[in-house]
Amino acid sequence: MEEKQILCVGLVVLDIISVMDKYPEEDTDSRCLSQRWQRGGNASNSCTVLSLLGAPCAFMGSLAPGHAADFVLDDLRRYSVDLRYTVFQTTGSVPISTVISSEASGSRTIIHAYRNLPDVSAKDFEKVDLTRFKWIHIEGRNASEQVKMLQRIEQHNARQPPEQKIQVSVEVEKPREELYQLLGYGDVVVDTLGAGDTFNASVIFSLSQGKSMQEALSFGCQVAGKKCGLQGFDGIV
Ligand code: FRU
Repeated sequence: MEEKQILCVGLVVLDIISVMDKYPEEDTDSRCLSQRWQRGGNASNSCTVLSLLGAPCAFMGSLAPGHAADFVLDDLRRYSVDLRYTVFQTTGSVPISTVISSEASGSRTIIHAYRNLPDVSAKDFEKVDLTRFKWIHIEGRNASEQVKMLQRIEQHNARQPPEQKIQVSVEVEKPREELYQLLGYGDVVVDTLGAGDTFNASVIFSLSQGKSMQEALSFGCQVAGKKCGLQGFDGIV
């Protein structure tokens, strides 16, 4: 039997990234150090990482014909991401983000062009064969449709023995009121508020103890990861 996959539902984007030595002044004309095209979008990036980690995964998101779509599709294939549930829309184009990455500060400034591409709907999701998946991750976007997707997974799970139930995670990155209705559905995303701060503090602590950068980063990830599974901060160490 084929190994069950992890499905990520959300956005794929073309990121056009210019690396600058420092963030430019407004109304100036400067050269970047380098520039590259990269496939982006949260759900699509998560598929990249899952694939690198060796987990069979699938991406579900919208596409529309064009150069940006050709580029991101080629790249998704390169990472062996299963694309059978991508939805080709008849309006809009694949979103493009222009990203300025500053070497001086480490900041990344994203200018996102959404290009009127509709999101995948609950109706699209009805076509998904849920038995293929052990985990479904949903990037919070069109929340009222996504609630219907999550309810479909719940109904499916109610008919399954415990070992066949699909685990669910939901990403709520932006503090948009509409997305909050998704929060109750995740099995493990509990509270990411302050996760970045936890990471910073843990890395600083580790470096201040004379640990190497590698050790400090691992420690930072470990503590920040633990924080995401807890409400508030008590219990992270
Ligand atoms: C990074 C990212 C980029 C994309 C942007 C979309 O988190 O997914 O790849 O351009 O966010 O908001």
